[in-house]
Amino acid sequence: MQDDSLQAVVVGAGTMGTTLAKLMAAHNVQVTVVDTNPQVLDASRLSIGTHAAAIRFTTDLQSAGAPDFVIESVTENVAVKRKVVAQIEASVADTTVIMTNTSGIPIDDIGSAMRLPQRFVGTHFFNPADIVPAVEVVPGSHTEAAVVEEACRWLKRLGKRPAVLNTCVPGFVANRIQHAVMRECLSLLEKGVVEAEALDDIVQYSIGIRMALNGPLCQRDLNGLDTHLNIARYLYPDLEARQEPAALLEEYVAQGRLGAKAGQGFYRWSDESRTQHQARERENLQRIIEIAAQHSRRDEP
Ligand SMILES: NC(=O)c1ccc[n+]([C@@H]2O[C@H](COP(=O)([O-])OP(=O)(O)OC[C@H]3O[C@@H](n4cnc5c(N)ncnc54)[C@H](O)[C@@H]3O)[C@@H](O)[C@H]2O)c1
Repeated sequence: MQDDSLQAVVVGAGTMGTTLAKLMAAHNVQVTVVDTNPQVLDASRLSIGTHAAAIRFTTDLQSAGAPDFVIESVTENVAVKRKVVAQIEASVADTTVIMTNTSGIPIDDIGSAMRLPQRFVGTHFFNPADIVPAVEVVPGSHTEAAVVEEACRWLKRLGKRPAVLNTCVPGFVANRIQHAVMRECLSLLEKGVVEAEALDDIVQYSIGIRMALNGPLCQRDLNGLDTHLNIARYLYPDLEARQEPAALLEEYVAQGRLGAKAGQGFYRWSDESRTQHQARERENLQRIIEIAAQHSRRDEP
């Protein structure tokens, strides 16, 4: 099939499904969005705005037609995802590529009951999916190389920067790094080393701005690996290495402090401050992406 007539189905119309559908419609992919909750579909349509006119919204997966690929973006729960993937498999042709937008559940765990797991691949987008360029492409142990290649081709067609993992590990790359960073952040808060606002300032205006231009390995090359090794030698014994989530995080979630959507997390939020912040973030992310793309890349490894 020609790329011009690419057809896709997005299953799950929440935060990610909505921006995935927006991304696809903006790149002239004929997209159907499926969710079991009709109210979520209405909210998704509203949030997408002008591009929504070109998108089909339905609660019926069976009516999704003959897509080239389906991407599941339902709740991050392995049992729910397994069920949804089985429903997708029963609704589409054997040649349809099935992708999962899981944040880090091993691909084989989700695809364990699939009839044709060779056409199943992880494509982990980042929020908002219509803006953030990177997508982790994660093959399971049964995924065919041709499926990985096809997924990468479609992702490039959507303006993305697919990055393929050699092997699937829980959390993939991005969430392993994000959680390693957050384990240390929460530990520093719990120990009273620093207040939330100061911690955010330190990270955002030092490591953060530099990482927008250079990945961590490139950054270390620029700083010197010998210096990094000297610091690693004395620092690692003191870093947080616990195996359970921080008590502070458990406490906040138990209290309903779920972050901006609940009005309070590390900071207090109103509906207005959240909406304004997110709108500014979308605009400024585009600017950062442009600057990052202009910044000269290192030589090949
Ligand atoms: N939110 C993020 O920042 C982010 C980033 C990257 C990846 N992800 C991943 O994307 C996926 C979706 O996350 P989200 O944040 O959009 O979640 P969400 O809770 O906003 O949306 C999930 C949607 O799935 C729908 N759903 C549940 N069961 C369904 C079923 N059987 N059939 C159809 N729809 C069903 C729900 O009604 C809901 O609308 C998860 O796997 C998550 O880990 C999330």
